[in-house]
Amino acid sequence: MSASKKEYKRVTVKSLIEMKSLGEKISMLTAYDYTMAKIVDGAGVDVILVGDSASNVMAGHETTLPITLDQMIYHASSVVRAIDRALVVVDLPFGTYQSDPKEALRSAIRIMKESGGHAVKLEGGKEIKDSIKKILNAGIPVMGHLGLTPQSIYKFGTYTVRAKEEEEALRLIEDAKLLERLGCFALVLEKIPAALAQQVAESISIPVIGIGAGGGVDGQVLVLHDMLGMTQEFHPRFLRRYLSLHEEMTTAINQYIDDVKSSDFPSENEQY
Ligand code: KIV
Repeated sequence: MSASKKEYKRVTVKSLIEMKSLGEKISMLTAYDYTMAKIVDGAGVDVILVGDSASNVMAGHETTLPITLDQMIYHASSVVRAIDRALVVVDLPFGTYQSDPKEALRSAIRIMKESGGHAVKLEGGKEIKDSIKKILNAGIPVMGHLGLTPQSIYKFGTYTVRAKEEEEALRLIEDAKLLERLGCFALVLEKIPAALAQQVAESISIPVIGIGAGGGVDGQVLVLHDMLGMTQEFHPRFLRRYLSLHEEMTTAINQYIDDVKSSDFPSENEQY
């Protein structure tokens, strides 16, 4: 059964805040290219995240750290050309906002001007508050990201659940409230206990979108290639696979190879 929802011709940061107040859950998926973004937007997803997970999914890097601002702009501009309805949020990549608020603003402006994206996402709380303020002061909407923040993987050492201990949980709650006060329009919480994520969602007025953060938040995000079953190596508990595209694509490609080798393809009807 599909849930009832208000029709939005175009999703804006205001629509997301309204969805939270109406109790309508927010759907968000990643996309990094025109063709996938066209499908995702056409299906009616609310938010498309041009995530720096492109570093893993599109470029085959082990972490999100190597992707550059130019590469993010390339992915984001391809996505923006495809969409009619979704809000497009673009990750600021590692190294483009942490060292200095002015550099953070320059990076965010490049994303907005050169890709046409609608908002940026930054990982972190108190430690990057001056960068967030600077970007917001320029009129650029900011989505926060707390919990397991993959750009800090070498500090964490593993991709396991964050904020299980009280000290880290309290810090995360403080950071979430700070991001709301600064003026962020939404917050991603990644891989933290469901009860903590729900507590955060109930204690701030901006939408909280979870990945591995349980059902008590205001929306969900998944990496598109994971939920379609195109990637195989990644099996976290939170991932629901809606298709097995890796198998289906392999079968189709095997069939094509057989058809070429056996001269079955092209047939009379497939030539001029
Ligand atoms: O880069 C990304 O895809 C993300 C999501 C996992 C939230 O940040």
